[in-house]
Formats: sequence, structure tokens, C-alpha cells
Amino acid sequence: MNDFVIDQGFDAYTDEDHAVWRTLFERQSKLLPGRAAPEFVDGLKALGVAADGIPDFEALSDILEAATGWRIVAVAGLVPDDVFFRHLANRRFPVTNWIRQRAQLDYLQEPDVFHDCFGHVPMLFNPVFADYMAAYGRGQTQAWRHRGPALLARLYW
Ligand SMILES: [Fe+2]
Repeated sequence: MNDFVIDQGFDAYTDEDHAVWRTLFERQSKLLPGRAAPEFVDGLKALGVAADGIPDFEALSDILEAATGWRIVAVAGLVPDDVFFRHLANRRFPVTNWIRQRAQLDYLQEPDVFHDCFGHVPMLFNPVFADYMAAYGRGQTQAWRHRGPALLARLYW
């Protein structure tokens, strides 16, 4: 079955792509103290390897896997629900590989690599959350098999 995983294409990122990442990373990091859960902030420290530019998913996955058994896989954008939750069930988090343009710093209609990596990956460093997400993926995958309706998927989104 198609898992929608693609090569990250790390070498194709331009200097401007990495600069946009750094701008977003610095800006969002500053907003967190006093707002974000301590678990997220801890995870972000682990993600600190990504402060310099768009992270290489392989290198980041090695760090993440050592912490909680999760890996990051590259996708081109949103993937179908059944594919997404099957990845979660197998401790793989799909991350969009492209980054927004500088003119889109504040708002973007669909998730890009910054949204997915900065927004979602830090919590995957937390063992309790990491187990919960994998269980959620398994629950949704089983629910499809038995009943069909994608209620857990709807709740997730
Ligand atoms: Fe998201």
C-alpha cells in the first residue's frame, strides 16, 4: 500500500529556505515562555539541533528514535487519514518537506516543514505523549477495520 513517503530532498533546500526556517524558529521560540506546556519546551530543547536551519530528517529521527522510538518521514503535504494514522501507529510522524516563502511567514493554508516540525515534533520527545500518539494511531486504524466511521480521525483534526 502507498505510504506517501518521499525523499526529503535535503540538498535541494536553498540558503533562503534555511533563512526562512531560522526566522520562524527564533520568532516562535521567543513566544513560548509562559505560554507553552513545559513538556513542549523540553521537547523543543531536544529539537534545538534544528535551530540553525531546516533539519535533516534522518539526523533528527536518530535523536528522536533514541528518546521515544519515533521517526520522521517526509511527505509532500497532507496525506489521506488512513495513511496518516497508520504511520502514527508505527511511530512514524509524517512531516511536509517544503517550506513557506518569506511573504507567508505569518499565515499559510496548509502545513509546511516548519509547522510540522516545530509544532508537532517536540511533544514526540515526551515518552508519555509519544506512547499516546502511537496508541491513538492504532485505535483509529482498528476502528476503521471494525466499524468504518473515522471518529477518532475527526477528533484529531
Ligand atoms: Fe498541525
